[in-house]
Amino acid sequence: MLEVEMKFAIDDVEAFAARLSQWTRLAARRDEDHYFNAPDRHFGRTDEALRIRSIGNSNVITYKGPKLDTQTKTRPELELPLPDGSEAAAQWRDLLTRLGYRPSGIVKKSRQVFETKRDNFDVQATIDDVDGVGTYAEVEIVADERDMVQARDLVLRITAELELRDHIRRSYLNLVLAKQHQVRELVVVESVSKLREQLAPAKRQGLVVGFVPTMGALHAGHVALIEQARAECDVVVLSIFVNPTQFGPNEDFARYPRTFDADKALCAKHGADVIFVPDAKAMYPDGFATFIDVGKLGEIYEGASRPGHFRGVATVVWKLFNQVHPDVAYFGQKDGQQVAVIEQLIRDGDLPVRLVIVPTVREPDGLALSSRNRYLDATQREQAVVLSEALNAASAAWSAGERDPTRLQGIMQRIVASVEEVRLDYAAVVDPQSFAPPTADALAIIAAKIGTTRLIDNMKCGDASD
Ligand code: PAJ
Repeated sequence: MLEVEMKFAIDDVEAFAARLSQWTRLAARRDEDHYFNAPDRHFGRTDEALRIRSIGNSNVITYKGPKLDTQTKTRPELELPLPDGSEAAAQWRDLLTRLGYRPSGIVKKSRQVFETKRDNFDVQATIDDVDGVGTYAEVEIVADERDMVQARDLVLRITAELELRDHIRRSYLNLVLAKQHQVRELVVVESVSKLREQLAPAKRQGLVVGFVPTMGALHAGHVALIEQARAECDVVVLSIFVNPTQFGPNEDFARYPRTFDADKALCAKHGADVIFVPDAKAMYPDGFATFIDVGKLGEIYEGASRPGHFRGVATVVWKLFNQVHPDVAYFGQKDGQQVAVIEQLIRDGDLPVRLVIVPTVREPDGLALSSRNRYLDATQREQAVVLSEALNAASAAWSAGERDPTRLQGIMQRIVASVEEVRLDYAAVVDPQSFAPPTADALAIIAAKIGTTRLIDNMKCGDASD
């Protein structure tokens, strides 16, 4: 079975309960959840969960698999009853521990449960007063796998109807653990040794470290990465390093925006724990000579226009991973070829990092947010929208059945050509992993210059926003 669930913070419990007046209210109950990690893996890292839940006198054991959807929490669920009574629950916990399962935390909550039937689904809404953490509402459907899309849409619809807005992506276990172990103040560290010192206690406790590598000049695109890391990890590390090895000799390394104070304020506001700001000399000391060659991916499209760029990106990310030792790393889909390079780096190097790709954040008119947008004057800013328009058109044509890469490219070229000042570098529809011609999945990619500013963007075909 699949569990489809969303959680929200609520301030006004009475008002929320009033909105559920048409639902059936069950008897209030008290849950005690004991979570475990498997002998061979830490579930915070693999995105799974295992718990023994006691509800009054009854007990169940529940396994939850990795999430299949990021908007809602949709995941496989296996729930099996255990014998009744606190003695039986204690014996089962004992059994798991003897088999090598490691207790990770206990969540206790008072739960009010409401039920209703909608579109043939049993829907449950709960108001949870979680000990030591706060009050939350959850809306949940347990559905068959083949009904996943309908169940997910229904959960989204119901939460909107119930005016639930403050979406919380973290699990109760995560919230409870964070409360116990949080690195509270935003800390700025400049050296690898200080970074390790800062992260050591969290690592010892087996907490999940999330990592967002950036070059600073942070905007809402970066914020989406921070927020997702915050939602899913115990400790969030963000690095700011304008990496010289990924810039060509005639590129904008020297004038790349550096806005540390504003970046720091944004990190504090969105809940990062540590900002790592290494210094270029420490990153690339005299004698530094080892670079990562990313092969073909480094030579086509972005790699062709910016020779050596992905070699520099892969090298610095490899170094940053070794410095931070993250469990999970967050990258934006905005830099589609970079995502493919990092996936390859992790795969080829057997790096122990889980990659999470965050969708591109756009301005209302479709322009993808980028630190380089600030180079554009007002006219250029208006003209820049042609990039996302071209991608939308290619994506829509793909949805309508067009599969000829040359014709798809032609659609994009014509749209860009309609604005004389925008000089196209490349436009193509490619396979999202290899950047070779597409087979099943397709990604429309584009790069263009407006004045001296070079912009890139991409869109999954079939995902067109208009
Ligand atoms: P930077 O351009 O600062 O981007 C940092 C991260 O933010 C990247 O993963 C990027 O894809 C993501 N990002 C940027 N704009 C976004 C948007 N509009 N929506 C969603 N995500 C967005 O990419 C780099 O830095 C560097 O190459 C780096 C990986 C740090 C290596 O030096």
